[in-house]
Amino acid sequence: MLAMNYRGPYRVRAVHKAEPEIEHPQDAIVRVTRSCICGSDLHLYHGLVPDTRVGMTFGHEFTGIIEEVGSSVQNLRKGDHVLMPFNIFCGSCFFCRKELYSNCHNTNPNATAVGGIYGYSHTTGGYDGGQAEYVRVPMADVGPTIIPPDMDLDDAVLLTDALPTGYQAAEMGDIKEGDTVVVFGAGPVGIFAAKSAWLMGAGRVIAVDHLDYRLEFVKRFAQCETINFREVRDMAVHLKQMTDGLGPDVCIDAVGAEADGNALQRFTGVTVPLQAGAATALHWCINSVRKGGTVSIVGVYGPTFNAVPIGNAINKGLTLRMNQASVKRHLPRLIEHIQAGRLKPSEVITHRIPLEDVADGYHLFSSKLDHCIKPVLIPPSVRH
Ligand SMILES: NC(=O)c1ccc[n+]([C@@H]2O[C@H](COP(=O)([O-])OP(=O)(O)OC[C@H]3O[C@@H](n4cnc5c(N)ncnc54)[C@H](O)[C@@H]3O)[C@@H](O)[C@H]2O)c1
Ligand SMILES: [Zn+2]
Ligand SMILES: [Zn+2]
Repeated sequence: MLAMNYRGPYRVRAVHKAEPEIEHPQDAIVRVTRSCICGSDLHLYHGLVPDTRVGMTFGHEFTGIIEEVGSSVQNLRKGDHVLMPFNIFCGSCFFCRKELYSNCHNTNPNATAVGGIYGYSHTTGGYDGGQAEYVRVPMADVGPTIIPPDMDLDDAVLLTDALPTGYQAAEMGDIKEGDTVVVFGAGPVGIFAAKSAWLMGAGRVIAVDHLDYRLEFVKRFAQCETINFREVRDMAVHLKQMTDGLGPDVCIDAVGAEADGNALQRFTGVTVPLQAGAATALHWCINSVRKGGTVSIVGVYGPTFNAVPIGNAINKGLTLRMNQASVKRHLPRLIEHIQAGRLKPSEVITHRIPLEDVADGYHLFSSKLDHCIKPVLIPPSVRH
């Protein structure tokens, strides 16, 4: 089959490799119909995620049709069209019972912090991902979700990660009626966080980035104010000036490890790297938010040391919330929002790329060329 293949930092290509097979009675094999490239894939692509092995197939955001099921799978049958939460989870461990599906204790033999994730290095279990024609899906009775018959596939594929992650970012902000919410990062995740903030009662929403085309998009899509951080001398001072001197009630980090905007953070967090990523956006969150406010982090950082101003967070009495999203938990509500027409997530899709051209897709999305917001890979079997 055709599949994306990692060769080393900044080098990916489409190759032919063996089709996956059922390895366990709870497995299913899915024929992929859509797969996205995510900001999280860029951390892999840039060589920043430990134990990313040559030969791996990335892709944790995909939809597909069930081709085959293992002997003990009961909830799915051949021909079902499903969307796949990016988390691989068992549904029954201590953490899954608390709906912390991203922290499942049974699906990642290589680490205890995070559960399994499709196509996201051996740090999250070493599973091959969905930027391919076929994928092996473990715990098939638990994760895959049947796509409602009236739903556009492009909307469905955004339910596998970007939309629920943005939604959870807003949820973890514990937004109260009328709150001012600042979202750092106007990628797909930040765009959906800004939109979700309104659904949770925000009174004012401000998005921050340095890519004007993304700021224009989020302004229109989420009807929010915007700031280009290149035009601001001191982010904390600027945001306090915009909010009666106190600072925003909630700040969301939807940027993570590869933040721009501070040369020293960039050098120590990305170039060398001595830190687990450039925590620039996180600094801005902690230093801007008002005393007693909440910082919600969905931007991904590596597993070790980061120079974060924890003293400021303590002295300001902040609440810090963070996690990989637990996608499945949000699906019923988000499907309802889409069906009611309150959300049209597929509007963020700017590029449809044949799976064969996956290398171009990574280059385009990584370098933010051609006003790219969200690229979707289309396998040959679903092209007319
Ligand atoms: N927690 C989760 O479950 C989860 C899920 C998906 C993605 N993520 C993470 O969310 C982050 C965003 O993902 P995405 O797909 O939107 O990526 P993206 O690369 O499309 O967007 C990131 C945006 O941040 C902007 N940016 C850079 N430095 C900034 C700064 N200092 N302040 C404000 N904006 C800045 C960039 O210009 C870019 O537009 C990534 O770190 C990704 O790994 C987390
Ligand atoms: Zn993703
Ligand atoms: Zn579990």
